[in-house]
Amino acid sequence: MTTRPTALLPFPDTAALGPRGIELDGVPLTQLAEEHGTPLYVYDAASIRTRARAVVEALHEAPNGGHASFALKSQSASRVLELIREAGMGADCASAGEIAAALRAGFAGSGLVIHGNAKSEEDLRAAVEADARLVVLDGRDDADRLAAICREHGRTQDVLIRIAPGIDVNTHRHIATGHHGSKFGVTPAEGAALLKAMPDGLKGRGLHVHLGSQILDTEPLISAARWLPAFAKAEGIDLEILDVGGGLGIRYTPDQDMPDPGAHTRNLIEAIATVCGDEGIPVPEVIVEPGRSIVGQAGVTLYTVIGTKTVGDGSTWVAVDGGMGDNMRVGLYGATYAPVLAARPTEEPSGSYRIAGRHCESTDVLAEGVALPSPAVGDIVAVPATGAYHQTMAHSYNLFGRPAAVLVEGGSARLITRRESVDDLFSRDV
Ligand SMILES: Cc1ncc(COP(=O)(O)O)c(C=O)c1O
Repeated sequence: MTTRPTALLPFPDTAALGPRGIELDGVPLTQLAEEHGTPLYVYDAASIRTRARAVVEALHEAPNGGHASFALKSQSASRVLELIREAGMGADCASAGEIAAALRAGFAGSGLVIHGNAKSEEDLRAAVEADARLVVLDGRDDADRLAAICREHGRTQDVLIRIAPGIDVNTHRHIATGHHGSKFGVTPAEGAALLKAMPDGLKGRGLHVHLGSQILDTEPLISAARWLPAFAKAEGIDLEILDVGGGLGIRYTPDQDMPDPGAHTRNLIEAIATVCGDEGIPVPEVIVEPGRSIVGQAGVTLYTVIGTKTVGDGSTWVAVDGGMGDNMRVGLYGATYAPVLAARPTEEPSGSYRIAGRHCESTDVLAEGVALPSPAVGDIVAVPATGAYHQTMAHSYNLFGRPAAVLVEGGSARLITRRESVDDLFSRDV
């Protein structure tokens, strides 16, 4: 196996250096920029398939069965969802829109797990009408509203209760969700009470926990998985299903680890089986809900350099034709990236640069302190690890249309999302 240059470490699995610079599955990134324009999201099918299959295969080893539910909030392009469904995953949806996206991509209702801390009547009706396998309740009001809809439809809905166990994780506080005070889930005591007194129309099957996202130190995820069966036993709850959420991180910069989603899933299964053995209770069916760790590493965003300038404090800006409209993560969480020039990723750097987005906000900066080799107008900047929470969070501030997306597979690329045109931007005006 050839060793990848350090600059390529956060790129998708098929990334390699060719005569035109970085290639994905043999397709040069610069060629994709020429053919489809920029900004452009590029996804590597092989990277997605490998990770989705690894999780599904790990779940085959779960003693009482397992189900992998892909979190659509991280990526919902129809062609990508089809790949994930073909790999054997189900779908985790947090709105009527995400339910529609899952159904369009061919997921069956029996593969859907429905979420949301403030589900509307429309979201709940969409879940019931899709015959969703499970709805994860976020509180008593959620339960009452869903129960009324189920009674109207003459149907009983299987549900889980989302618990905020008060476990802190080492991630940005804006993407931590399992701590005391989180807006997601209920206290363990409230969860147990709710599960023991389900309104007519609902059948409680177990518990759910999701601690947060971009978690590279997996110990808290394993601790939560160990804690819930013991808690269920102490409360006298019959835990048929344990859904341990998602949260596994990915490598954004070369110095970070790249955890293996399959190995992590096996660790979760083993931890749950061990604690159930210790507690003398049956092992529940295990559900996992990975998003970022399936698709994040598979994505690259391409930009064109629009201009460079050195300013009053001596720093040099490299302005590109995208920014916060296609990447919300920098502004939301101070996320860091390792951009390179697609044609010259390993060339000796000429200095340290700041990558400016094109939006009229001073905070629209894609990366700071980036070592690049004399970036110039027309160069293509490639930002790796942008397959999750980029396209799904894109917006059209300043009325820049949202980017196109292509999927690279078997040595060629196909357009899977067309670029938003100026006409598209006005298509909702009445
Ligand atoms: C309930 C739930 N499940 C799964 C996920 C997916 O998390 P990740 O993309 O970090 O794996 C999220 C994301 O926040 C979530 O809220």
